[in-house]
Amino acid sequence: VSVYDVTGPPAASAGAPDLRALGGRDEVDGELTRMDLNTGSSEASGLRERLAEELGDLALEQYGDERALPLRRTLAALSGRAADEIFVANGSMAVLEAILASYGGRGRRALAFVPSYAGLQRLCHAMDTELALVARGPRFEIEPGAAQHALAEKRPRLVFFCHPNNPTGRPEDAAVVSLACRLTPQALVVVDEAYVEFCEERSMQELADRPENLVVVRSLSKAWGLAGARVGYALAGAPIVATLFAGQLPGAVSAVTQAVARAALREDPVEQARRISGVRAERTRLARILRAIPGVQVWPSSANFLLFRSPGPVGQLLESCARERVLVRDVGDQPGLEGCLRATIATVEASDRLGRAVAAVAGGEQV
Ligand SMILES: Cc1ncc(COP(=O)(O)O)c(C=O)c1O
Repeated sequence: VSVYDVTGPPAASAGAPDLRALGGRDEVDGELTRMDLNTGSSEASGLRERLAEELGDLALEQYGDERALPLRRTLAALSGRAADEIFVANGSMAVLEAILASYGGRGRRALAFVPSYAGLQRLCHAMDTELALVARGPRFEIEPGAAQHALAEKRPRLVFFCHPNNPTGRPEDAAVVSLACRLTPQALVVVDEAYVEFCEERSMQELADRPENLVVVRSLSKAWGLAGARVGYALAGAPIVATLFAGQLPGAVSAVTQAVARAALREDPVEQARRISGVRAERTRLARILRAIPGVQVWPSSANFLLFRSPGPVGQLLESCARERVLVRDVGDQPGLEGCLRATIATVEASDRLGRAVAAVAGGEQV
C-alpha cells in the first residue's frame, strides 16, 4: 500500500478556463474534479517564470548542494529560524520517515491521537515502530487528562500531533502540545503542520519557550502547490536537525528539487496571502452550502478541506458525486468517522457541483 494519502495516480491537469474562480488549476481526472486529493488547488503565482530562471542557471553536471543549504537559508528567512535548525527531505512524508529512522524503530514506541493522518500509521508500520493510538474526543479534540494518562502509561519515544489535523481539519490545542513536551522530555514531540498555512491559529513553532524536544514538520505540497516536486522540511533544535541529516544520504534532495522549491518560495507574500484567503473563503462558502442540506454534519476546518457526514448511504453519495463529476474521499474506515467524507477545496464551480450531489442524496432540492 502506498504510504501517500492519495487514492491513485496523480491527476492530469487539464486547462479548464471556466473553472478558474480561485485563480488555480482545476485538478481533473478525465471528467472528474479531484476533491479527494488534499494537495493545493493552485501553484505559487509566477512560479513558471521563476522556474525558468532557477533551472536555467543550474549546473546539472555538478552535484547540487549536498545539504540543500541555499534552500534552507530561504526557509530560515521565511520561518524565523536559523538554517541549522532546518532539515529538508523529499516531501514531509520523507521527513517523518527520517524522524522514525533516527528516533523510532524496533523496541521504541510512538503515540498518536486518532482519527488523524492515516499515512502515519502505514509509515510507523513500515519503519517497524509500534504506534499506540489514543482516541480523540467527540469533536476530535484531545482531552488533556486522556493525553496525560496515555503519555504516562505508554512512555513513548515519539508523540505525533497534526495541526491542523487531517482529515478532521481541527487545529491542535497548543496547551496539549506543550503538556506533551513537558511530560515526556525523553520523547520527540512531532507536530505535522502540512496544512498550517490555511490555518488561522498559530504554528506550534511559536509555543512559549520553544521546547527543545519539539519538531515542526511542514510541506510544500499543499499551500505552495508543489506536491509533484516532493519537498518537506522540519523546524527543530540544531542537535535534532544534525541527527536527522546524519541519517540522510548527502544529496538526497536533488539540485533540481532544490531549485524548484526555491522558485516556489520566492512567491510574492501578498500573492500567497491572496491565494490562501481565496481557499479559506471558498471553504467557508462550501461549508455553508453543505450545512444547509438536511442531515449533513460539517465540521469546522482550518485546512484546505472539509470533513462532512453523508446524509445517506456513502455508496449513494459517491455515485451522486460521480454524476456531478466530482470525486471526494471516503474516510469512513477510521474509528469515529463512520459515514464521513473529506472534500478538498478546488474551485467555486466544483463546490457547487458537490453541493448538488450531496443534496440529491439527502432527497432535498438541489442547491
Ligand atoms: C497530514 C499530512 N502529513 C504529511 C503528508 C505528506 O505530504 P508530502 O509528503 O507531500 O509533503 C500529508 C499528505 O497528504 C498529510 O496529509
